[in-house]
Amino acid sequence: MSTPHIAAEKGAFAKTVLMPGDPLRSEFIAKTYLEDAVLVNDVRGVHGYTGTYNGKPVSVMASGMGQPAIGIYSYELYNFFDVESIIRVGTCGTYDPELHLKDIIIAMGACTDSNFAAQYRLPGTFCPIADFELVRRAAEECERIGVNYKVGNIFSSDHFYEDDHSGLTWAKMGVLGVEMESAALYCNAARAGKRALCICTVSDSIVHNERSTLEERQSAFTQMMEVALRLA
Ligand code: HPA
Repeated sequence: MSTPHIAAEKGAFAKTVLMPGDPLRSEFIAKTYLEDAVLVNDVRGVHGYTGTYNGKPVSVMASGMGQPAIGIYSYELYNFFDVESIIRVGTCGTYDPELHLKDIIIAMGACTDSNFAAQYRLPGTFCPIADFELVRRAAEECERIGVNYKVGNIFSSDHFYEDDHSGLTWAKMGVLGVEMESAALYCNAARAGKRALCICTVSDSIVHNERSTLEERQSAFTQMMEVALRLA
């Protein structure tokens, strides 16, 4: 079976798909954490793998960067490949003075400057939110492994480079951080009647002017993967 962006058998994906932004990271996750990982998609170099973790089937496929990209892949997985849950495992910047590099943000809600939800023609503003059960269990896993985390709103921006850093304005509403994918993912999950969650490790602090090194990102990533895989 082939969709415009995924060429895979109908049952090729597990019910839960972990979704990093970076295709190389998806390959790393498959090879490091999954048993018997099989490559199920490689259209445009967006490698998707299905294997098992603790005996349970899990898939991992990259989203690429930005809401149009994750909008495409999550739509096709939910609507054409019968995927039930997508867990984004990403990085984000934080506006919160209590959060530092390597901490985790569990995005309960996703504010955005994207026009993604306009397609639904709603008579007001839609609030893209994560699945509560996934949020609750992610928080429990963060407690269990002892990582510093916060649950709250994230800002899914359409801009990495901005003329004017609008993020700081979102901070006055208690928004914890900024990334570029969650709102579109949560919209697609809502429309398809499926489940989604985004967990991000903090890769930079806009308030403390900190930015993580490659090694720091890697070790923080290991903790986040432990959380995400146990949800699957
Ligand atoms: N902006 C957008 N996305 C990001 C950032 C950022 O500062 N850091 C990590 N992902």
